[in-house]
Amino acid sequence: MHWTPDSWRAFEARQQPLWPEADALERVEKTLSTLPPLVFAGEARNLRERLAQVSRGEAFLLQAGDCAESFDGFNADQIRDKLRVILQMAVVLTYSSGVPAVKVGRIAGQFAKPRSRPTETIDGTELPSFLGHMVNDLPFSDTDRRPNPDRLLQAYNQSASTLNLLRAFTKGGFADLHRVHAWNAEFVASSPAGKRYENLAEEIDRALRFMEAAGISSNHPEIHEADFYTSHEALILQYEEALTRKDSLTGDWYDCSAHMIWIGERTRQLDGAHVEFFRGVNNPVGCKIGPSTTPEQIVGLCDALDPERSPGRLTLISRMGHDNVAEALPRLLEAVRDSGHPVVWACDPMHGNTFTADSGHKTRNFEHVVAEVAGFFIAHRQVGTHPGGLHVELTGDDVTECIGGSAVVETTDLGRRYETMCDPRLNASQGIELAFRVAELL
Ligand code: PEP
Ligand code: CO
Repeated sequence: MHWTPDSWRAFEARQQPLWPEADALERVEKTLSTLPPLVFAGEARNLRERLAQVSRGEAFLLQAGDCAESFDGFNADQIRDKLRVILQMAVVLTYSSGVPAVKVGRIAGQFAKPRSRPTETIDGTELPSFLGHMVNDLPFSDTDRRPNPDRLLQAYNQSASTLNLLRAFTKGGFADLHRVHAWNAEFVASSPAGKRYENLAEEIDRALRFMEAAGISSNHPEIHEADFYTSHEALILQYEEALTRKDSLTGDWYDCSAHMIWIGERTRQLDGAHVEFFRGVNNPVGCKIGPSTTPEQIVGLCDALDPERSPGRLTLISRMGHDNVAEALPRLLEAVRDSGHPVVWACDPMHGNTFTADSGHKTRNFEHVVAEVAGFFIAHRQVGTHPGGLHVELTGDDVTECIGGSAVVETTDLGRRYETMCDPRLNASQGIELAFRVAELL
């Protein structure tokens, strides 16, 4: 079937903003299409190879970052702190499981949000819902909520400078394994998870010292540098189309807005615009899979997105809810296994576990998160497939957005540091604790 970067326009695209001025949007699309790509196609191919290892059970995928990145208060410390907790989680997973962790951030492009309702009504005033900083702004006013295409350019620019710093940190010494202790932020170090991490960092230090004493050089790039990839939900298709380029080496199309992109639970219709766009780009792609997905739908998605049955091409991100996973997941695992698609299965234990606390805050319970991951592992063991990865929303800060964890956040704490623009995220200690709990399951 013929495909072009704009062939999605003939299909229904859900969850799109109603852009008020078509000309302004078109002007921005033209500008974006002349700007340099954010990633190189060869890097996306490398990630596909790493994910192929995950699909065979030879590596574990850790995909983590913000629910929605913000234009406000954008600074280096936030990027560093998010990277740091992801590196810590990766070390915990690798050390305990003995397989490498493939690190993918929800970062440098995660600016657009699907919403349960297109509009929000407060005191009789109806305005468009907040769709992420790539589209509009959070305050409930007419000007803030009006979709503004200039925001697509700001998203591109912020993605470029985020990616630049991530490359500098991961290749320039920050991610050196000799620095495992330094990644433990002060506020994390005093928590139970932080202390457990400190012990593990000590063991890694000792192993590195032993290697050096025994004359085994630890002077490998794997010790001094980390490979870190970017990803986001490719929701706003005009933006993704404008950054889609033909790779000069292979002649294939790549969406150069990120290494990996995924389709959300609300936009994965088989006859929809998002599936149409995704089927033509050669990046590794993901698709969220919720509890209402049928075996026929999931095999249809696999056929559309991975017609060549290519390992590493497709990651299915299960987000069932802790109370649904045992019931809903096994038959989907069986259907995909029997279809012969070599997918990566990752567990998003966040999006099926959101509820409103008595305090009025949207939150998640850490124990529900752990319970969903445990259910995910059990389902894979039953069916004989690989539990390939973890997909979580977190921040490197000391926020109080999810309740539970061993440095307990109570419902009454939620108001203290509730900073997310969209969904509640794990804080740094909760992220590290989750890595330890997952490592025990591995
Ligand atoms: C998300 O990952 O932020 C999200 C909206 O997830 P889902 O599409 O699974 O609801
Ligand atoms: Co979210």
